[in-house]
Amino acid sequence: MSSTVVLAYSGGLDTTVAIPWLKEHGHEVVAVTVDVGQPGDLDTIRARALAAGAKSAYLVDAKAEFADQFIARALKANALYEGIYPLATALARPLIGRHLVDVARRVGAQKIAHGCTGKGNDQVRFDVCAASLAPDLEVIAPARVWKMTRDEEVAYAAAHRLPISVGVRSPFSFDENLWGRSAECGVLEDPWVEPPEEAFGWTRPPEAAPDRAQTVTVGFEEGRPVSLDGADDSLEAIVRTVNRIAGMHGVGRIDHLESRVVGIKSREVYESPAAVTLIGAHRALEAMVLPRDLLATKQQLEHRYAELIYDGLWYTPLREAIDAFVESTQARVSGEVVVKFFKGSARVIGRRSPNSLYRHDLATYSHGDRFRAEMAEGFIYVWGLPARTWAGIDATASSPAVPAAPKSSGARPRATPETP
Ligand code: ARG
Repeated sequence: MSSTVVLAYSGGLDTTVAIPWLKEHGHEVVAVTVDVGQPGDLDTIRARALAAGAKSAYLVDAKAEFADQFIARALKANALYEGIYPLATALARPLIGRHLVDVARRVGAQKIAHGCTGKGNDQVRFDVCAASLAPDLEVIAPARVWKMTRDEEVAYAAAHRLPISVGVRSPFSFDENLWGRSAECGVLEDPWVEPPEEAFGWTRPPEAAPDRAQTVTVGFEEGRPVSLDGADDSLEAIVRTVNRIAGMHGVGRIDHLESRVVGIKSREVYESPAAVTLIGAHRALEAMVLPRDLLATKQQLEHRYAELIYDGLWYTPLREAIDAFVESTQARVSGEVVVKFFKGSARVIGRRSPNSLYRHDLATYSHGDRFRAEMAEGFIYVWGLPARTWAGIDATASSPAVPAAPKSSGARPRATPETP
C-alpha cells in the first residue's frame, strides 16, 4: 500500500534523487518548495519535481513571512551564533518545516521528508520542528539512510534519467535565502586554506570593492528597519537592497569554524551583507536608547536566543519567552543610523533618535557642562569601598584597619551628616 509523503524539495541533487527513492520505498511524493528568497527559477524547480516523479508539486511564497516573522525577530535579538554566524540557514528551517506540516495536513499525508544528511544541523531542525508542531507525523530522511556517496547519487540520477545537470557540478554545497548564503564542502573543508573566490556569490572581494566609500541611512521603528535613505520600504525589500549595496562593498563575508549540534566542528563560509550591516546598525541605535543594565541583560539572552535558533528549538516556550523579553525592549528603538561601506567594512558613523539617552549637557567636556563632577568623589568613595576594604586586609594582622577615605582636597565624606 502506498502512502503519501510530503517532501521538502529544493531542486538539488539530494532531494531530486529522493523522489524516485521514496517511490521505490512505497510512497507517493508530494513535493513542496518554499520560497524564502533563494535564487533560481522556482517554476523550473517545480517542473523538475514533477519530471522526477512527484505526484504533485507545491510552490509556497514565504518571503514576506520569513522577513516579518523570522528575520525581524532575529535582528531585534542581534542573533549571531557563536558571536559570528547570522543564522540564515538555521532561521529558515522552522518556517519551511511549518509549511511542510501545513501541506501534509491539506493532502492528508502521514509523513514528511527532507533531504538532510545525518551529519548536519538541518536534520535536527526539521525533525524537532515536526516533533513540536505535528508529533503524529513520521519524518523520513532518505539521505540519512540510503548510504549513497555523492558519486553514487549522480549515477542513481543518471540511471533514473533524472533532470539534473551533472556536467559542471559545483564542488561546494550552498544554501541561500534572504538573510544569507551558506557554503561548505570541497576545499572549504581545509580550515587552513583561504576560501577561493568561487565559493562566494553575493559579495565582491573587499580588495576589489569600489575605491569610494558609500553611506546608507537606515531608519528604525521599534527595532525594525523601515526605511533606507528616508524612503520607506518593506523589510524584505530593505534586506534585498542592503544585501546588494553592502555585498558590492565586500561586506558580510564570514569564515567560521563552527560547532555543530551533532558534536562535529565544521568550516563554514557565509555571506550575509544585510545581516551584518543591519545588526550593526541596530546595535548602535540600542546603545543610544537603552540603559546600561538592560543592554547587558539583553545581550546575555541574545546569546541564548541565537543558540536556540541554531539548535532547532524555534517552536519552544523558551524561544517565545525570550522573544517576549526582546520585544518589550524595542519600544524606544526608533531613529536613524548612518552606515559607511568601504572595502569590506560597514562602519556606523552616526545615529540619532527621539528617545536618545545621550545628553550633550552631561557628556560634554566643553562649555555647557551640567554634570556635577564634584559629586563623583563621594560616589566613588562608596563605590570603591568593597575594593578598599578587601585591599586593606593584612594577612598577618588579626583585625583589619578601618578603611580611610581618600586624601583629597574635595568634599570628604564625614561620619556624621552635615547640614548643607
Ligand atoms: N552550518 C550552517 C547551519 O547549520 C549552514 C548549513 C548550510 N547547508 C548547506 N548545504 N550549505 O546553519
